[in-house]
Amino acid sequence: MSELLQLGSPNQRPRPPRIEELDLRFSEAAIAELEALRRHYPEEKACILPCLWIAQREYGGHLTGDAIAEVAFRLHRSYAEIEGVATFYSLYNTVHEPGRHKLELCTCLTCHVNGTWELRDYVRRKLGIGHGETTDDGVFTFEEVECLNACDRAPVVQVGDEYFGPMTEASLDELIERLRKTPESTVVQYARSVVNVHLRKEERPTSPAEA
Ligand code: FES
Repeated sequence: MSELLQLGSPNQRPRPPRIEELDLRFSEAAIAELEALRRHYPEEKACILPCLWIAQREYGGHLTGDAIAEVAFRLHRSYAEIEGVATFYSLYNTVHEPGRHKLELCTCLTCHVNGTWELRDYVRRKLGIGHGETTDDGVFTFEEVECLNACDRAPVVQVGDEYFGPMTEASLDELIERLRKTPESTVVQYARSVVNVHLRKEERPTSPAEA
């Protein structure tokens, strides 16, 4: 089933999964979060973006076709509507399954004049990956992104919900080595942080892993 469901197939649009085929993955805590979100908004449609963040967290950082279908099911929307929203925003990982850590390098003007392309080339030499690619061991994904709104720290790299800059080859080395030793996915951690931003303190999960 899953090969039919992955988004981003170069030659064909996958068949949307049927609800009866799904192995629903939202945990009890995720369902409770969604219930809380429903109370924040006048209609379910307004919950699509935060619900996609819940799905990105619950599906390990990757919005697969099944994840899109689960969001559609839980919000009583069509698969096409949810897929359209998810694929519009680059912060949702719909096309490729990301590595454990995503290095997002700003390539806009201020970073550009402060050496971002040299860093991009350095990442290719060091990790062997370019834009949108993941290392064979699944640890790192690299992406070139638009202005991160931290131009005073150019050139800037975002990892999860942290910004690093101004970056040099040496500081990039340090960051990569630190992340290599970090077993928790910063992609999932980032999704968790965004979900928490949408919830009141008393609505957030209380387990240490979800805090
Ligand atoms: S140009 Fe890179 S953060 Fe703004």
